[in-house]
Amino acid sequence: MPVHVAADRDALAAHASATIAGLLEDRARPRASLGLAGGSSPKATYHQLRWESLNWAMIDLWLSDERWVPPDHEDSNGRMAIDAFIAEVGATLHRPRWSPRLTPADSAAFYEAELRSIIPTGSADVVLLGMGDDGHTASLFPSTDALSERTRWFVENEVPQLDTWRLTTTSGFLRAAANVVVIVAGESKSSVLREVLEGAPNMYPIQLLREATGTVWWLLDNDAASELAATEFETI
Ligand code: 6PG
Repeated sequence: MPVHVAADRDALAAHASATIAGLLEDRARPRASLGLAGGSSPKATYHQLRWESLNWAMIDLWLSDERWVPPDHEDSNGRMAIDAFIAEVGATLHRPRWSPRLTPADSAAFYEAELRSIIPTGSADVVLLGMGDDGHTASLFPSTDALSERTRWFVENEVPQLDTWRLTTTSGFLRAAANVVVIVAGESKSSVLREVLEGAPNMYPIQLLREATGTVWWLLDNDAASELAATEFETI
């Protein structure tokens, strides 16, 4: 479980971009799949990805979670990624469908079928994730139904804490990825990150990664790593 700590957010973004590019270039097959995280932390990394010399035409981009909003909504993770780098590199992003006539459940079912077509093995090459200060990841929030999903790859999830619906990858699908890259930045994450990495199991949704079958890369900035006491890490 590689844990890398960069001096600040800019250094973290540069390192995360290079790490992701390296993992994609190492793929065994001509096509690769890259799952994108939402939220704010990965945005700086996405800006850096614009400069990586990757053959984006051979990379299937998809979303590890999405908000239940129209595709051009300011809260859309897909729109954030398109604005941050996808439009610039000319890659294709597979996005969940949204429509006032669709339910989150229908959209999740359609998207799962699309994921099964682009990742037939069930093991995504690279999945990016963030971590909330409540220990959620993707849209797997504490005490929500999606946490108990055992067979699906992608589901709708009602999040009472936010009074909203989300669409999210499930624990099983995330655990099956060949590489999971978790990007965590900022002082506000430091205490929960210590508990996630060094504390008791099964306390936070993101601890599902303890049972990951692939490699989990924790890419942190100094602020987020500031309370780690028992975790070996490499300084970048
Ligand atoms: C989302 C994300 C979510 C995010 C964390 C951290 O849709 O918001 O996928 O899981 O990664 O909430 O968000 P920040 O990076 O903004 O702190």
